[in-house]
Amino acid sequence: MKAIVQDAYGSADALELREIDQPVVGEYEVLVRVHAASVHPDVWHVVRGLPYVLRLMGAGLRRPKNPVPGTDVAGRVEAVGKRVTRFAPGDEVFGESVTGYSWANGGAFAEYAAVAQDSLAPKPGNVTFEQAAAVPSSGFIVLQNLRAAGQVKAGQRVLVNGAGGGVGTLAVQLAKAYGAEVTGVDSTTKLDAIRSLGTDHVIDYTQEDFTRGGERYDLVFDVPGNHSFSACRRALTPQGTYLLIGHDHFGERGHRLLGSLPRFLRLAVLSPFVRQLPRPSLSILTKKEAMSVLSGFLESGELTPLVDRTFPLSEVPEAIRYLGEGQACGKVVVTM
Ligand SMILES: NC(=O)c1ccc[n+]([C@@H]2O[C@H](COP(=O)([O-])OP(=O)(O)OC[C@H]3O[C@@H](n4cnc5c(N)ncnc54)[C@H](OP(=O)(O)O)[C@@H]3O)[C@@H](O)[C@H]2O)c1
Repeated sequence: MKAIVQDAYGSADALELREIDQPVVGEYEVLVRVHAASVHPDVWHVVRGLPYVLRLMGAGLRRPKNPVPGTDVAGRVEAVGKRVTRFAPGDEVFGESVTGYSWANGGAFAEYAAVAQDSLAPKPGNVTFEQAAAVPSSGFIVLQNLRAAGQVKAGQRVLVNGAGGGVGTLAVQLAKAYGAEVTGVDSTTKLDAIRSLGTDHVIDYTQEDFTRGGERYDLVFDVPGNHSFSACRRALTPQGTYLLIGHDHFGERGHRLLGSLPRFLRLAVLSPFVRQLPRPSLSILTKKEAMSVLSGFLESGELTPLVDRTFPLSEVPEAIRYLGEGQACGKVVVTM
């Protein structure tokens, strides 16, 4: 099969389109004929091998364990492992090809990918493969934070900082789907698109600092993390909740060794003493649960992924460079 191959950590320019063997599926895995796969900041991180800590989190110490980048796929089932019960050849599916919480290549930028059956859901007929591929890992992190940690409720006021990105465009729609009144913050050129997703209010961060505007929110869902927690507290109600997603801005802001992890650790250490920080919890959604919820929202039309631009498989290096320029509104997607 054709696949994008990475022999070493480094620039996206070194990625090559090659002929390699198809993956062999395990007992609980599905072989997906990939039609679309998304490009997101975590793909950039693993291609670079930065921050270094990811090399200990499943990516591979000296070189990538899995030489094929990409984690989010949408396609058609080609074959199934012998203990797979949920899918059959021909089914249209979407899902995440890395398992658990590993920060690693998942083999998505290829004609075929092996994916655990519990990381897949049926692709609803009303969305394209490109739209479905935009959802899995971003949707998972949104649900984990907004629903599991933030316990978003109808009538709450939610602010999404970084609302025009891959994660933010899903966060505003899911917050709306749960009945919240949503404010989206991003740069000038992305505001119309954010409004078109049903966002109630928008703030242009180049003109206005939401932490100084005097408005109070029940939830601040913070993707770029460009303000300190104490600044964000000014925009929270006393019972409100601060959720940090974090963005290393393609190596510009994060620490080379640990990325944003020290910041998450500081918030976790403070959380027993500060009401507005959720405590680290074990009651988290499984990928199977999250994929089923996301599939339901796609089917109902409450979630319509925004695809900024698509690139053919041979142009993955260009797609990664384009993502790194920060112009994309919604998701960048690779098609096979
Ligand atoms: N698969 C996934 O997507 C996934 C899964 C898990 C975790 N994450 C993590 O989630 C983070 C975000 O991913 P993403 O896909 O949403 O990234 P993204 O597509 O780059 O989006 C980030 C958004 O933040 C905006 N932004 C930048 N500076 C800002 C500021 N000062 N104020 C307000 N908005 C600002 C950017 O807009 P401008 O560039 O126009 O400023 C952009 O629209 C990454 O750290 C990633 O590692 C992603």
